[in-house]
Amino acid sequence: MSTLLAILAIAILLICLLWILVPAVYGLPPLSAGSNRIRAALTMAELQPGETLVDLGSGHGGVLVIAACEFGANAVGIEAGPVQNLISRVNAFRKGVGSSVRIETGDFFQADLSRAHVVYAYLTSRYAKRLGEKLARELPSQARVVTVGFELIGWEPVSFDREHLIRLYRK
Ligand SMILES: C[S@@+](CC[C@H](N)C(=O)[O-])C[C@H]1O[C@@H](n2cnc3c(N)ncnc32)[C@H](O)[C@@H]1O
Repeated sequence: MSTLLAILAIAILLICLLWILVPAVYGLPPLSAGSNRIRAALTMAELQPGETLVDLGSGHGGVLVIAACEFGANAVGIEAGPVQNLISRVNAFRKGVGSSVRIETGDFFQADLSRAHVVYAYLTSRYAKRLGEKLARELPSQARVVTVGFELIGWEPVSFDREHLIRLYRK
């Protein structure tokens, strides 16, 4: 019995460590921008039913669930943290949009973004240059990018929501 408890405690500890450490290694906590800011960003991007929305660093999946539930989008999250991804999947299924949400575990700099209609990124200016270059290379023409809290280098915003610090870019 005590061996079983010890194994359970170690498993929980490992999950907690993975939960905290993986985003820390990537230099960003898995904090959400909050539902209102997410809705404002997706509205600004004019996300349409059936379009593909990609959230770069999807954390616990708040953006994916709102994009699928409220906008009818196919939502793709790319997130380094495996525990965050497990929680995102559970959230998507609980909200009944499991089939419209896909989550990839890994580094979004290695992902192919060529099928995205809209890219959402709540990151920091540390990402601005490398991400700006990747998006310019890979996104199809007319794709939209919304950034929350930071500016993409090499791109000119077409609009700026000063209250929520959201910028909209169009390729
Ligand atoms: C501030 S959170 C954003 C969460 C979510 N997008 C939202 O707005 O609710 C940033 C997330 O990006 C992830 N992240 C940072 N760099 C990454 C990278 N290169 N590849 C994949 N995920 C990354 C972190 O693990 C963290 O969960």
